[in-house]
Amino acid sequence: MAAESLWGHSAGAPAGAAGVPGEGDCTDCHTGTVNSGGGRVQVSLVNAVNWTPGTPVTVRITLSDPSAQRWGFEITARSASNPVVPLGTLAVIDSANTQLTIGGNLQFITHRTAGTRPGTSASSTWDVRWTPPASAGAGDVTFFVAGNAANNSGTEAGDHIYTTSLTAAAGAPTTGTPKVLPQLAFGSQAGAGAWYTAVYVHNTTGSPVQVPVDFFGADGSALNISGIGTTTTVSLSAKGTGIVEIPNVGPLTQGWIQATLPDGVIGYGIFRQSVSGNSDQEGTVPFSSTTSTGATLVFDETAFDTAVSVLNPSSVNVTVTITARDDKGAVLGVSTLALGAKRREAFVLKSRPELTTMQGKRGSVDFSVSSGAVAVLGLRFKGLSFTSILPTER
Ligand code: HEC
Repeated sequence: MAAESLWGHSAGAPAGAAGVPGEGDCTDCHTGTVNSGGGRVQVSLVNAVNWTPGTPVTVRITLSDPSAQRWGFEITARSASNPVVPLGTLAVIDSANTQLTIGGNLQFITHRTAGTRPGTSASSTWDVRWTPPASAGAGDVTFFVAGNAANNSGTEAGDHIYTTSLTAAAGAPTTGTPKVLPQLAFGSQAGAGAWYTAVYVHNTTGSPVQVPVDFFGADGSALNISGIGTTTTVSLSAKGTGIVEIPNVGPLTQGWIQATLPDGVIGYGIFRQSVSGNSDQEGTVPFSSTTSTGATLVFDETAFDTAVSVLNPSSVNVTVTITARDDKGAVLGVSTLALGAKRREAFVLKSRPELTTMQGKRGSVDFSVSSGAVAVLGLRFKGLSFTSILPTER
């Protein structure tokens, strides 16, 4: 501890503080209770779901906290079945911000002083490389991560410590494509009924795969689902099918879902509204691209109301231009919607002043962004009845 202080500890966390069960974490020295600070640490494989011998993967650590001003982390890779045993090899790929430390036969990667990014708010990300063992028989790997979302005081006091882990299976190389469901609703509200959402996924291939699923609130922050958490992984056997059910618990909560779909995995979302005395209503949500810059849907406002969920799945702020046209192609109105990174808004189209002219007409609505991305789901209402309108993306 004395040596740590002399050395200037914020130059890197000491080995053995990554939150492996039976080992330490940052709260060995830093004050506070793990995972209670209102933020979180996440760990993910970049463009991969499983690992395969001979193919190194980039492992990304993302630490976020609305109040933090300085950042630090530590990661280690272990055998999932016996976490005292190291698995594979960790290597630094960003030597300006990260460094390797060794404790006995165990490897850790932690921040360097520059990697603590003093004065940076909201979040911090570090990438490291992990080279898998030579044989898939080594089994699943678990990455243990501890993060310190610090207050930049230069001391161990007042920081927020988070831990998490990710297990990746040994298996066929699986590349995943992130896809989003712009509509997630669960819980109850007087007048709006009770809501439930489910995600169905199916593996069309002959090998087992895993599908990571993440939940986000309308403001883009991680959304904690009762009994599931902010993220889950669906394991699908060859030709297998799985479901994630988001129960009707608590007050009405809206948001969106991201799933990383390995090649050959298909699926969709379902959302349901239950109003007592009425038949349940359900709508389908197709998986949308996270990179498309436009979407068009067809509307009929002669006897229906058209609502939309508009999501910015990208990590930059966007301005969505919404252009409504009548059945002859003439422009009825143009509205713009500013959407921060990872944010989603749901509204009735004609409630926007520029789009009141849609009332009584049929036609199309075009959503476009010049940079970033946009994903849209339409809803067609008649009183308490509704169905979804599937947009065409480009
Ligand atoms: C052995 C005790 C010890 C452990 C374990 C420890 N720290 Fe620290 N840490 C300190 C001390 C002492 C300071 C303040 C002195 C300094 O900055 O060197 C500090 C400061 C920091 C700071 C700067 C804080 C600020 O508000 O400016 C960061 C970031 C940090 N530690 C990250 C971590 C992370 C991440 C872990 C766990 C993976 C961790 N530390 C584990 C002792 C420890």
